Amino acid sequence: MISFLATALLSGCTPTQKTSQDKLDFPKDFKWGSASAAYQVEGGTKADGRGPNEWDKYLNPPYSLIKLVTGEDANGDVSINEYDRAQFSKDVKLIKELGVNSYRISISWSRILPEGEGKINEAGIDYYNFVINSLLKEGIQPLVTLYHLDMPLALANKGGWMNRESVKWFTDYANLCFDRFGDRVKTFLTFNEPSIELLFMQSFFEAVNNHKAPEIPASEEYISKHFSYIHHLMLAHASAVNAYHKRNLGGQIGITYNFMLCEMDTTASENGNKSLDVISRVWNNLFMDPVFKGYYPKDIFDRLNAAQYGDIQPGDFDFIKSAKTDFLGINYYGVNMYHEKKGAGFFGLVNGRNSDNPPMFNGFVNPDAFVTGLVSLKEQYNNPDILITENGAGYGIKDDTLINGRVHDTLRTSYLQRHIKAVHQAIDKGVKIKGYYVWCMFDNLEWMMGYTRRFGITYVNFQTQERIPKESYYWYQAFLKSQKNN
Ligand code: BGC
Repeated sequence: MISFLATALLSGCTPTQKTSQDKLDFPKDFKWGSASAAYQVEGGTKADGRGPNEWDKYLNPPYSLIKLVTGEDANGDVSINEYDRAQFSKDVKLIKELGVNSYRISISWSRILPEGEGKINEAGIDYYNFVINSLLKEGIQPLVTLYHLDMPLALANKGGWMNRESVKWFTDYANLCFDRFGDRVKTFLTFNEPSIELLFMQSFFEAVNNHKAPEIPASEEYISKHFSYIHHLMLAHASAVNAYHKRNLGGQIGITYNFMLCEMDTTASENGNKSLDVISRVWNNLFMDPVFKGYYPKDIFDRLNAAQYGDIQPGDFDFIKSAKTDFLGINYYGVNMYHEKKGAGFFGLVNGRNSDNPPMFNGFVNPDAFVTGLVSLKEQYNNPDILITENGAGYGIKDDTLINGRVHDTLRTSYLQRHIKAVHQAIDKGVKIKGYYVWCMFDNLEWMMGYTRRFGITYVNFQTQERIPKESYYWYQAFLKSQKNN
């Protein structure tokens, strides 16, 4: 069924041709964008007084995580060089030509507070003022993530999110961002993907400190013992939301999640299906419920022994409830297939089954599941405003190559068409989706996969920093034009 749909949509899709997708009619004030994150695009890791963050540690000797995982000797020191203002100015031109009205960036905490707290690095503030003003000058509204998986190393060394002080560190940092950028930035996100933060980042940190390979997938015991990590993140989110609203800056603040839609391999036992429900509730509800309902899902809370490990103190839930988050952010890529297998840990095994060929790197392509998932969020969380803050397709370098100066990323193009259509279907079903951001604008550093995976709608030659818009860029451009003419 899915591959049939793919074939149908794939036929005849070129940059200039109109497809039935072009006729979709979205609200006039819909936010159309593309996205990025500081560590993945900036480089300049040692420039102008920036302090190191946890990734600078993971990706450099003696740990060199990318090398461990892919064999490639790589880190974020240059990445796609957007700390270079001349480069960023050129990139803004491409963003403008694409026709989006919004662009998602993140602030690197340790660029503006090198130690994570205390002394401000004005050079870092200047850089983000430049970035924000460059976008605004072109009529592009910045969507700013305060924290995209990049804890300042000085704070990580003090225990990071395991330390309750992290609530104060983050609030002070958020306040600095609101002070310096809140006059122009009208949409903020506190966190990108808190579940990934716990299941990957913290486990990397502990692994590198203990000179061991990271524990992925994380075990149930790991999650249980790190419940305070989750709780501190939730308190930090609430605290930043309250701080933002107190300032009356006339904008909005939300949080964004890695929306994990899970399916069990059809050969799974009944037991497997039961554990699948738990897995899905741990990935999603454990992090969404506190923000949008004010409490953790009780069965998961008990199962993970949160009363013992959660650092839950009197008044915490009242505080969490006091914060009114303006919108729910969703990052969605594909469905994750699980196969119950002895020894695979609480999260089962992510199974490589995939309809598209070559398979997408991060999940099983399934736009129908996206529609169903969005409708379920509407029902579970009292129909909140939703921003799709990431959606896109990543492929290996060999699948995404330059041929005669062009990249025919037909699968990515089809993926975007199918998912934009899914967003439209969800809106038709009453889900209040206010915007959509493609991940991502430029190929960049894909965390521990380094430069071996490409997600961009713009190809980047990592040696020369040349940018070449791919077929998906031209498709999205034509689609956005058709929306303006509607
Ligand atoms: C993250 C991005 C990442 C993307 C693709 C999301 O989980 O927010 O930083 O590059 O997925 O894997």
